[in-house]
Amino acid sequence: MKVTRRKALLSASAFVGASVLPLRVMEGRAAAQQVPAKTDIASEPVSLSDFEVMARQRIPHMAYEFVAGGAADEHTIRWNREALDKIRLRPRILIDVSKVDTRVSLFGQEMPFPILLAPTAYHRAIHPEGEVATAKGAGAVAATYVVSSATTTPLEEIARVATHPLWFQMYVQSDRGFTRDLVHLAEATGCRALCITVDTPVLGARNRQQRVKFELPPGVKTPYLFDVNTGRGAIMRPQREIVTWKDIDWLRSFARVPVLLKGILNPDDADQAVRAGASGIIVSNHGGRNLDTVPATADVLPQVADKVAGRVPILMDGGIRRGTDVLKALALGAKAVLIGRPYCYGLGVAGAEGVSRVVSIPRTEFEMAMALTGRSSITSIDRSVLWPASQ
Ligand SMILES: Cc1cc2nc3c(=O)[nH]c(=O)nc-3n(C[C@H](O)[C@H](O)[C@H](O)COP(=O)(O)O)c2cc1C
Repeated sequence: MKVTRRKALLSASAFVGASVLPLRVMEGRAAAQQVPAKTDIASEPVSLSDFEVMARQRIPHMAYEFVAGGAADEHTIRWNREALDKIRLRPRILIDVSKVDTRVSLFGQEMPFPILLAPTAYHRAIHPEGEVATAKGAGAVAATYVVSSATTTPLEEIARVATHPLWFQMYVQSDRGFTRDLVHLAEATGCRALCITVDTPVLGARNRQQRVKFELPPGVKTPYLFDVNTGRGAIMRPQREIVTWKDIDWLRSFARVPVLLKGILNPDDADQAVRAGASGIIVSNHGGRNLDTVPATADVLPQVADKVAGRVPILMDGGIRRGTDVLKALALGAKAVLIGRPYCYGLGVAGAEGVSRVVSIPRTEFEMAMALTGRSSITSIDRSVLWPASQ
């Protein structure tokens, strides 16, 4: 039979129609099949911002404000995000990315991916299981959890449930004997590194916390700390904490694990930190919680990296919410990143499981971003991953 051009066209469109429609239906079915039974699809979080929305709806308002808030008008919180958003990536095509290796090694510790949990205070104000749930959630996905010295759970209890190495964050407190004991305790409980937070000689103007009159739930205590977040209670001290470079020398003189300085923005401070013997540097503005209108960490990271020139590893935090952010931070000179607020939301919404999920999402996205920019290993990530104008 002779097939006219018109008939051919009609049958082709019938074919197209037949193939397109069922495909849509199939996609719908496939999606439905992937959703576990009884899951509330509308609220199934697929990105870290979904967790924030869920946390806002589900956790106590005071806890949400404590986590979400920052200093003063919160310009720096916004800038942390904007700085990452404005960086454009530069894809590469037709490269074999069948295997993407995200492993990094920090101070002899091998990590399957370069995302750590930043130290955050008061987990029992966010979820009844507090830091125990965080440690379980981190361990389940092999993430390193930096325990805050404003923990509401003793280190021994956290270490007991941890299945992956912990690090410990601390402040040099005016009672130096107490500070020394805390270092020893952290080491004795197996913490592999100490992050000394150096950006908080005084608290910032935490207006959101003030407005909700933030306080710890009854019975919840901080075993190791003056209260940097409320400046109240046992911790409230009339005098300021005077900590200088001499104290870093002192601390290093007896610490047996690597000492990192957390809260560096100024490249000159980064240089001085290296010369003072810091094992690593964390570029951080405390998630915009201390001094509002300091620059975004992504904006200062390249300058710090240039100054440090590979002498010690640099970590970075502030606004990391996507795998693409992780890639950008690494391209700008960080060896690894930390996330703060998102896992607090995960903890509040779903305890340990929520923490695990909050780590897994950017981890998977990071692998995707590496593949899509043609990078199959961490060492192949450099500034050429970034579109030149955005560097
Ligand atoms: C609720 C909360 C509590 C925090 N507590 C501490 C702390 O106890 N010690 C510290 O060094 N940093 C603390 N930070 C700062 C984080 O370690 C980290 O620098 C910051 O959260 C990273 O920014 P992000 O939240 O945008 O990811 C806290 C941050 C938040 C959100």
